[in-house]
Amino acid sequence: MTTIKRDHHDIYPFISPKGRLAGAAKGKSLLVTGGGKGVGKAISQQFALAGATHITITGREQKALDATKDEVEAQSPGVSVTTVAADVTTEEAVAAIFAALPAGHVPDVLINNAGINADFSIADSDPATWWRDWEVNVKGTYLVTRAYLRLLNGKPGTIINVSTSISNAVLPNMSSYATSKHAVNRFTESVQLEYGAQGVRCLAFHPGGIPTTGMGQRAPLQFKGSLLDTPELAAGTALYLSTPEASYLNGRLVFADWNMEELEKLKDSIVKDDLLVSRINWGPSISTEIVGLPPSS
Ligand SMILES: NC(=O)c1ccc[n+]([C@@H]2O[C@H](COP(=O)([O-])OP(=O)(O)OC[C@H]3O[C@@H](n4cnc5c(N)ncnc54)[C@H](OP(=O)(O)O)[C@@H]3O)[C@@H](O)[C@H]2O)c1
Repeated sequence: MTTIKRDHHDIYPFISPKGRLAGAAKGKSLLVTGGGKGVGKAISQQFALAGATHITITGREQKALDATKDEVEAQSPGVSVTTVAADVTTEEAVAAIFAALPAGHVPDVLINNAGINADFSIADSDPATWWRDWEVNVKGTYLVTRAYLRLLNGKPGTIINVSTSISNAVLPNMSSYATSKHAVNRFTESVQLEYGAQGVRCLAFHPGGIPTTGMGQRAPLQFKGSLLDTPELAAGTALYLSTPEASYLNGRLVFADWNMEELEKLKDSIVKDDLLVSRINWGPSISTEIVGLPPSS
């Protein structure tokens, strides 16, 4: 019996563009929200190393986008990086992101990575700050995905949503962040259901606990001991998830600190038993079918 532990903390050959996934993104184009910093920056770097030729990165801070563009293009001379300063929470800004895509380049892969987290108890919370987690994490992911699906116009594509392990946990002071990322997981399942038949793959993943990114540096004290991972682990995992080999994970939530080679050995049971999706365990005796609709999975 294969046991999947959370014991990978850095990129490893099975998911690395310098290892087994050399050339895995050859000639591909990519759109990364929050691509100027942290996890999004590492994703841009690793996809460029894997042969991506066009990467569009967005975020609100132009300076960070420019610095990442320079770094990625210097590191991988075959790639061209486009930057768009935009806030993913407004329809106008998201339209501007798609208007700025290089002519003729429909991204092969969209990475919905932009995200924030608040940290306070419900009674102490400021309502606008509490709701802002939902605006960036859920509305932003929805708006960018909606625009991407429209651009695909019936063609295949890949969407990778950056979620968190906390999306399935109940922890103090995390009510806005955890519920917003839980919604991202469910949204991932909805996209897969509605667009899977046209060849769209949509997956969610926990990028690891990463102390060096903006979110890691601002992490509440309760998490400090659990931030053990590099942004490259997240980026290599995103690269693996973008490959057709990972199609058994479509619509599901994956943790970057699992070993993907070991996870593949569980492929049949993940698909057959419909694992790694968000469901309430109702037990065998309680019916929850919606009258008049076919049984839901
Ligand atoms: N670090 C961890 O341990 C950890 C753990 C679990 C999940 N995650 C997830 O990983 C993702 C990346 O976070 P990170 O760790 O790399 O932290 P980060 O360094 O703070 O990166 C967050 C990114 O999101 C962008 N962003 C924030 N608000 C935005 C908005 N309204 N519109 C457009 N872009 C926006 C930021 O760019 P601007 O500031 O320039 O807008 C930045 O590029 C998030 O979704 C987070 O939930 C991180």
